[in-house]
Amino acid sequence: MTALACRLTGFGAALPARRETNDDLAAHLDTSDAWIRTRTGIAARHVAVAESTSDLAIAAALEALADADVAPADLDLIVVATSTPDSACPATAARVAAALDTPAAAFDINGACTGFVHALAVASSLLGVGALGDRGDRLALVVGADRYRSLTDPADRTTTVLFGDGAGAAVLRTGDHHGAGLLGLDLRGDPDGLAALQVRPDARWLHMDGPEVFRRAVRSLVSSAGSALERAGVAAGDVDRFIPHQANVRIVDAVAGRLGIAADRVELDLVDRANTSAASIPLALHSAVRGGRLQADDRVLLGAVGAGMGAGSVLLRWPR
Ligand code: ACO
Repeated sequence: MTALACRLTGFGAALPARRETNDDLAAHLDTSDAWIRTRTGIAARHVAVAESTSDLAIAAALEALADADVAPADLDLIVVATSTPDSACPATAARVAAALDTPAAAFDINGACTGFVHALAVASSLLGVGALGDRGDRLALVVGADRYRSLTDPADRTTTVLFGDGAGAAVLRTGDHHGAGLLGLDLRGDPDGLAALQVRPDARWLHMDGPEVFRRAVRSLVSSAGSALERAGVAAGDVDRFIPHQANVRIVDAVAGRLGIAADRVELDLVDRANTSAASIPLALHSAVRGGRLQADDRVLLGAVGAGMGAGSVLLRWPR
């Protein structure tokens, strides 16, 4: 594929105030810190009480815009990935645009845990083909925001312990910048996996077949990441930083191992956040940037998989 000259220039993160440890959950559920840590790598998560999805999205967006030194009025596009909007209408992105007072085009994408990669793919494609104007230097705000704890039955130990709430955001700027850009992309579906993870149409809570999700997640993510790398002509061993969906440390280890990416190149921040669905990758990206773990010219691979069971991967060359 043709690389798109662009760069991610600003990053934001927002977590609800309430932090819940595994012991907090074990106080009212038949589970334990040891079980959760061993099976998932998770120690704690943040849970929204007063915060709405748009509150979290707006807070992350404001940090990303300030970090990029971009005024909201200069944005061409806002894409929010979420499957837990405040309400069915309007889009969460429209709420973000209103809070920022920007006339940017704004819409949501529901790709569950894959949503941020979908959003980045759509935003970069629209900017890249000049759909929002031909000026080379176009700006999009891409946000992942979810409150999956509003979808999990508090009495169901098989799902509640796995999820947390939050939002992450990044500013995407098109234009040439010393070879920085989107080098490879892959998006795919897995229609046979629909029943493995879903809120059934007649149900209130998320239903999950854990082992089935595990198998499908590993298989799809390995295939998707492998295709994005192949399209970019980059070997897995040359990936400098792998930022996978933060579902579960065992899924991440299995995927990195099969791809041949060394453990010390994998970004992991689920220990204190759990699975935040569409927010998971931008939150991990924020951790990597703030932690100084992304360097100029690095090849950075984002890989996501989620309910549906779609998967998506993006390979970026990091700007100088
Ligand atoms: N505490 C204690 N016991 C539990 C808990 C819990 N929180 N949850 C389930 N169990 C029990 C089950 O009821 C089952 O009991 P049983 O044998 O009496 O029926 C037993 O633990 C299953 O234990 P294991 O076989 O050791 O569990 P497994 O190794 O399959 O791990 C897990 C379960 C963690 C859910 C695993 O299957 C998994 O990680 N699946 C992927 C799930 C996931 O990441 N979902 C996130 C959304 S999808 C996405 O983001 C891609």
